[in-house]
Amino acid sequence: MQLERILQKHGFGSRRECRGLVRRERVAIDGRVCDDPFVELDTDGLVFTVDGVDWPYAECASLMLHKPAGYECSRKPKHHAGVLELLPVPLRERDVQPIGRLDEDTTGLLLITDDGQLNHQLSSARRKVPKIYLATTKHRLDQEQIGRLLAGVLLADEVEPIVAAAAEMVGENQLRLTLTEGKYHQVKRMVAAVGNRVEALHREAVGELTLPADLKPGEWRWLTADDLKKLGYAT
Ligand code: URA
Repeated sequence: MQLERILQKHGFGSRRECRGLVRRERVAIDGRVCDDPFVELDTDGLVFTVDGVDWPYAECASLMLHKPAGYECSRKPKHHAGVLELLPVPLRERDVQPIGRLDEDTTGLLLITDDGQLNHQLSSARRKVPKIYLATTKHRLDQEQIGRLLAGVLLADEVEPIVAAAAEMVGENQLRLTLTEGKYHQVKRMVAAVGNRVEALHREAVGELTLPADLKPGEWRWLTADDLKKLGYAT
């Protein structure tokens, strides 16, 4: 594929703008500046560099973000900054979107992609992808509350009780909860339904994919083939 086309595909602007980047010697391949926008490159395993930043060739852009508190996941954030602002401009230009939403005050693992199939698969209610949350509660937890979460609670606007796939106390005021749906404010509403209140919420994992301990709040990284496998997504 032509370098100019590769850059365009990766969100570096129009073909003309990409050509300009190359001509101004801001692009390197294998550590060497390349000033020919029309050079044909093998995209298999290709890593190109723009202004000193490495970009792996990626047919689809799929990544994980450690969402910090204070960011909204909606397409048009109203009261806070949007999570996509934490990503480099070329990624935003690729029109990546969060897979599902976390509340503005929720932290933890957020998946972001421009791969419609991955988004659909992980959001599909039918697939029941488990999401694991760590909730800090205002009041002390007890086994009765845990039992009620596991037995199922009826939330407003729902016809059937919602059951936690797993729930365990990990401290007097801390609960690890696994949910297989993605309903609006689900953890907060379920915990409220058993007479407690969520004071802080953190998503630890989606499917088998756990937020890496070394990914700090606000940081992101590409999903690897192994990560996609943990999400049950074959590439
Ligand atoms: N449940 C909630 O209440 N909030 C989230 O952000 C995610 C799950």
